[in-house]
Amino acid sequence: MNVITQNFGPAPVPLIPDSAPFTPEQRAWLNGFLAGLYGGAENASIPSAPPPPAEDFPWHDPTLELEDRLALAEGRSLPRRLMAAMAQLDCGQCGYLCQSYAEALADGRETSTALCQPGGKVTRDAVKRLMADVKVAPAAAPAVAKPRGETTRLLASERLTGKGSGKDVRRIVLDLSGTGITYEPGDSLGVVVRNDPTLVEACLTRLGARDDDALREALSAERDIARPLDRTLDLLAGAARDAREGAALRRLADGEDGAEPADADLLDLLEAFPSARPPLADLIASLPTLKPRLYSIASSPRATPGRVELCVGVVREARRGRMRDGVASCHLAFRADAVPAYTQVSHFRLPGRAETPVVMVGPGTGIAPFRAFLQERAALGLKGRSWLFFGDRHAATDFLFAEEINGWKRDGTLQRLSLAWSRDGQAKDYVQHRMIEDAADLWRWLQEGAHFYVCGDASRMAKDVDAALRQIAMSEGGMTPDQARDWIVALARQGRYQRDVY
Ligand SMILES: Cc1cc2nc3c(=O)[nH]c(=O)nc-3n(C[C@H](O)[C@H](O)[C@H](O)COP(=O)(O)OP(=O)(O)OC[C@H]3O[C@@H](n4cnc5c(N)ncnc54)[C@H](O)[C@@H]3O)c2cc1C
Ligand SMILES: NC(=O)c1ccc[n+]([C@@H]2O[C@H](COP(=O)([O-])OP(=O)(O)OC[C@H]3O[C@@H](n4cnc5c(N)ncnc54)[C@H](OP(=O)(O)O)[C@@H]3O)[C@@H](O)[C@H]2O)c1
Repeated sequence: MNVITQNFGPAPVPLIPDSAPFTPEQRAWLNGFLAGLYGGAENASIPSAPPPPAEDFPWHDPTLELEDRLALAEGRSLPRRLMAAMAQLDCGQCGYLCQSYAEALADGRETSTALCQPGGKVTRDAVKRLMADVKVAPAAAPAVAKPRGETTRLLASERLTGKGSGKDVRRIVLDLSGTGITYEPGDSLGVVVRNDPTLVEACLTRLGARDDDALREALSAERDIARPLDRTLDLLAGAARDAREGAALRRLADGEDGAEPADADLLDLLEAFPSARPPLADLIASLPTLKPRLYSIASSPRATPGRVELCVGVVREARRGRMRDGVASCHLAFRADAVPAYTQVSHFRLPGRAETPVVMVGPGTGIAPFRAFLQERAALGLKGRSWLFFGDRHAATDFLFAEEINGWKRDGTLQRLSLAWSRDGQAKDYVQHRMIEDAADLWRWLQEGAHFYVCGDASRMAKDVDAALRQIAMSEGGMTPDQARDWIVALARQGRYQRDVY
């Protein structure tokens, strides 16, 4: 946990941040305790009673299904049940963490139920169901400082996937010179982005506001125009002069199955509902803020001083006759020049002792932090036991960083390499199939103290890798399902099972 510090006199007094998983009472007690410990008696409120036990969030596991998460939160308060409905990634895309978003919804500071992007419609529907029975009075939302970042320069956007691949995955290189940005292998980079100017111009045209530069800047840099919120739909429905348009907007706002246009962006709405034109200031205020995106850093500062490298999957799909571009991935891949960015410090870290074995499971863009780990180990000349599981669609076109990885295998930086190509054979072949095939060796590595890391897709891959690990504990360790679950929990508590999944 990060602890922020504040100066109260002789020594800086650490404060428990609001995002830490404590109740206000527990936080107050801990802050008093820390003040006593650091600040001396004159400025401390020494607690007289021990804190209540820290609240546990058993549902805070992105590999659990929504139903299971909700079941684990049954009987808890509304904010906790709402938290269980979130995707449990603490990814920050909603502008909060899972816990603080749920609390903001429950006490009315946040009115949009659709901000959990990884949770998607399933989370949104669950949140709506949970909120349906309670009347929450909207409270004034506190101004949330949006990270501004420091300006890095794009040095390269190079395609890693070969000709004929169905995916466009890029190595993005950013120049850090002139910035104060530093990072460690395992950290993520927060990228502050701008919307596609073509999309912004099309919205301005529909709004009859092409001369409005303030509006252009708001739509370019401040507001998310890809995912209007319920409150935008409400506003448009209220403003629609055409009754049929108003009714259709109301169906969308109510999340009715089959309501069209589905997955609409702002331009879709402006095109489909030309009679719905609320005051521009209200429309802008109703849109969500444009959030920075996080990327697992794919380089080690020892190997690439003054630079940071990312491995970015380009998100691009056609819908209703228009290409829908992922805001950040397409910005980085095709348009970026100056990129404001900041380091998001992570818990994801190589073991403290160089001789501890490491097992890394990172299919697809999940390879990113493991390239950073391996670059770091190569730069330090470490040849200890390291094992990488990588997979993607086709060996010929989708083996990301193949040359470097094969080089590390040859020079001993990487001791074992297990590969799985999901679309080269008749049946799907995934990283967890390699784990099961090598179960005896993998179990031995774990018994010898290996740290086990997983990075990449949360919704399917991380879940299945977790299941494979349990299966190995049962088949090789002779455990019952309950013992295997407890063993995995203990592994995670020791910091030996770390996940960076999204
Ligand atoms: C800790 C962390 C590390 C990460 N590391 C990496 C990494 O190393 N590499 C990597 O590639 N990614 C990584 N990600 C994911 C990354 O942050 C972005 O989420 C990803 O690049 C997509 O962002 P985008 O802005 O391009 O797409 P977005 O604009 O956010 O779109 C994302 C998805 O939402 C859909 N969408 C857009 N508009 C709508 C709409 N109106 N309705 C419904 N759906 C819509 C899009 O079709 C798309 O599928 C990481 C995430 C986290 C949290
Ligand atoms: N919208 C887009 O255009 C787009 C494109 C790519 C990725 N994404 C998203 O971006 C995120 C990461 O993408 P990525 O490139 O890192 O990875 P990815 O494309 O999701 O997958 C990488 C590899 O993992 C395989 N895989 C799929 N399900 C798996 C499972 N249950 N267990 C183990 N392996 C599995 C894939 O196989 P198969 O695909 O053959 O099943 C593929 O070989 C994902 O959330 C993905 O949904 C979006």
